Amino acid sequence: MATRVPNPYRPGFNQAPAALAGRDSVLEAVAEALDVAALDGRTPRPLVLTGGRGVGKTVILGEAAAIAATEHSWLTVPIEIRPERPFTTQLLERLAAARDLYRQAPPGKQIEVTAATIKASVLGIGGEVEVRRRATSTPEPALPLDAALAEVCEAALEHDAGLLITIDELQLAAKPELGDFAATLQQHVPDAWPLVVIVAGLPSIRDTQRGVTYFERGEWHVLGPLDTTSTRLALEKPADDAGRPMTADAVDQLATASGGYPYAIQLLGHHAWRASKGSDAIAASHVPAAIDATQSELAAGLYESRWQDASPKEREYLAALAELSATQDHVTGSEVAHALGTQPKAVSYVRDRLIRKGTIYTEAERVRLAVPGMAQWIRR
Ligand SMILES: Nc1ncnc2c1ncn2[C@@H]1O[C@H](COP(=O)(O)OP(=O)(O)OP(=O)(O)O)[C@@H](O)[C@H]1O
Ligand SMILES: [Mg+2]
Repeated sequence: MATRVPNPYRPGFNQAPAALAGRDSVLEAVAEALDVAALDGRTPRPLVLTGGRGVGKTVILGEAAAIAATEHSWLTVPIEIRPERPFTTQLLERLAAARDLYRQAPPGKQIEVTAATIKASVLGIGGEVEVRRRATSTPEPALPLDAALAEVCEAALEHDAGLLITIDELQLAAKPELGDFAATLQQHVPDAWPLVVIVAGLPSIRDTQRGVTYFERGEWHVLGPLDTTSTRLALEKPADDAGRPMTADAVDQLATASGGYPYAIQLLGHHAWRASKGSDAIAASHVPAAIDATQSELAAGLYESRWQDASPKEREYLAALAELSATQDHVTGSEVAHALGTQPKAVSYVRDRLIRKGTIYTEAERVRLAVPGMAQWIRR
């Protein structure tokens, strides 16, 4: 009986692809920053990754955690910023958890960072670590950020290790809070802590973080679509490895349809795999069905995530904007405000938030949704 081979594509946000293609230069930069901190005893500049939705920023952060663990036995403190929520409390908790993990390990030895720890560290340092702390100790007063960082770095150095901090969705951070974080890190660069910081966010962070010297002087990497060779590899390799290769024609057509957009590559691969169920190869005849399914899912997924990301007030704003754009090509901010029965000033903060999230953008007077077709989707 034929055994079922699971679909080898990963069409989901935050899902590591089976073949991580075409990100050599950013991965080299990650490896180098870790080497500088771990081997040369200097604190490197932060790495700043930017790119639109679905280009693979989060995947790189996860890969960085895996490199830190496997190459250097380092732990990672991952932070994902949420809309309208401060991140410092969670950062302090996770720094303390990482410190405790280092302290619990036998001194003088490198700690063994296992696959399980990597996974835990990527998901948010071990649920189990936090539970243990809560059960055994009375809550400690939270340390100020620089003391917390000093403690974890000291504990790490006992094991010849250091710490990677990743911050995802940076565009959602409140400027003063991020400014404090950046200032603290900047101030301690001369201390040569074994600390690497990698942040990721939408392209808008270039403007919103202007003036934050720590990030401005960081090493910026713009993630865009993959080139043709990498696109083909990302499509071809998972199928090959799973034992149902793609014909050259199928690869060509799928690569073209994807435009090199990583999320689309995974969706196309996924649907082509499905469409070819029962065949020994993914052929050109399976491509049209894959493209169809991808297009509708791509649309729904992208719109859906933006909608989920929006607060009730923001949804009202989006709905009004979508309604107006059904009948007119140009919609201005004041027209949206009037449709909501209020003055532009009263909703400018909602508009600004949606701009920061990358859901809408402005062009002179005009307000527009960032993804084509989203207006129709909202109206439906
Ligand atoms: N280099 C790559 N090669 C192949 N597939 C990739 C690559 N990078 C990312 N992907 C795939 O693209 C999709 C999106 O990746 P990811 O969630 O990291 O994007 P993102 O930039 O963080 O998006 P968002 O801004 O919405 O958080 C996933 O399905 C992932 O498997
Ligand atoms: Mg992401």
